[in-house]
Amino acid sequence: MLISGRGSNLQAIINAVESGQVPASIRVVISNVEDAYGLERARKHQAEAVFCNPKNYSSRREFDLALVDLLKKYEIDLVCLAGYMRILSPEFVQAFKGRIMNIHPALLPSFPGLDVQQKALDHGVKFSGCTVHFVDEGVDTGPIILQGVVPIEEDDTVETLSIRILREEHKIYPMAIQAFVEERLIVEGRRVKIRDIVDL
Ligand code: GRF
Repeated sequence: MLISGRGSNLQAIINAVESGQVPASIRVVISNVEDAYGLERARKHQAEAVFCNPKNYSSRREFDLALVDLLKKYEIDLVCLAGYMRILSPEFVQAFKGRIMNIHPALLPSFPGLDVQQKALDHGVKFSGCTVHFVDEGVDTGPIILQGVVPIEEDDTVETLSIRILREEHKIYPMAIQAFVEERLIVEGRRVKIRDIVDL
């Protein structure tokens, strides 16, 4: 798991692992931010928690290559980005092609990038939500695995909308990982089909 902050999605995934919903183990949680609360959550779960300082590397590429080396040592099957606030270099994406997931707090392809709850409110859309997708070389452009939809209320603020979206994130991210681990994801170009999807 790669994180940069509070790690509420990480926590949802930890809970899903501990309850047995996701038949996997979290080999390592890496943060590019030293005091990210997610590292605490990892330690409480007895997972390896590692801070990697980007300042120790001369470029994004160098940093990402070091991450690739580190992750390979842990023999991981899947990289999950959960609030990881760095764009991955093409070298990183190639190293784990088809094995990197991200969660985004909007219904892609609408509102990629940052501050997307504000953008959804500003645009006046009536529904928003979240998207779990595979990561390719673009920003929030990879094949979509699952989406959760929430209504936008007339008195919503960024805070109230973010909370509503986050509740969905915490449901669909573990579901997507579960389906990956159980080899129920079938990727056909941009389309990702899920065999035997379980209703929540
Ligand atoms: C979430 O809104 C996620 O969709 C976005 O970053 C935020 C991370 O939150 N990519 P948390 O650190 O998991 O609480």
